[in-house]
Amino acid sequence: KTVIGVLASGRGSNLQAIVDAIESGRLDAKIGAVISDNPKANVLTRMADTDIPTVCIDRRQFSSRQEFEAAVAEELNIRHVELVVLAGFMRILTPYFIERFRGKIMNIHPALLPAFPGENAQQQALEYGVKVSGCTVHFIDEGMDTGPIILQEAVPVLEDDTVDTLSERILHTEHILYPRALALYCEGRLQVEGRRVRIE
Ligand code: GAR
Repeated sequence: KTVIGVLASGRGSNLQAIVDAIESGRLDAKIGAVISDNPKANVLTRMADTDIPTVCIDRRQFSSRQEFEAAVAEELNIRHVELVVLAGFMRILTPYFIERFRGKIMNIHPALLPAFPGENAQQQALEYGVKVSGCTVHFIDEGMDTGPIILQEAVPVLEDDTVDTLSERILHTEHILYPRALALYCEGRLQVEGRRVRIE
């Protein structure tokens, strides 16, 4: 089984979808650790009655980004994590961390990249006036949401959408797409060739 480490900062609904996929046998992986940079994150309480280890590494207790990331990397290594999964992790990782886990960090983004990278992707989509948005699972590289794309799914933007209603519709799709992308990785079916990810 591939050991995955999940980094999350908030609600943790994507983590929940991953846990559910493992429990139902759709994803053959083991969660070695859930790490949150935020001591108040709902994601930590969500895992409280499971046997999944949770660790809080509070960014404010470190004097630099690199020291914080070194602590996160250390924890992932102790838990023998082979794939780092970002699930609502709201910090930008530096090249130092990305180099340590090169090609082994996945992220989900609530837009069809390369459209609307960065924060508030759903709001950006509404403000731009697109009729279709969606979500993207991709590998992380040094850029902001620029790494090789693994899977994408389109979601319609409706006339009377607000940020909340659009976010919810996209989130529903995220919960299906992320476990699917992880399963492809764990089955050894993803081949990265430059920018392109081939699914075998
Ligand atoms: C998700 O919509 C995810 O795509 C987004 O944060 C939410 C986390 O929800 N991530 C980003 O915007 C990354 N830039 P969750 O904590 O319930 O999984």
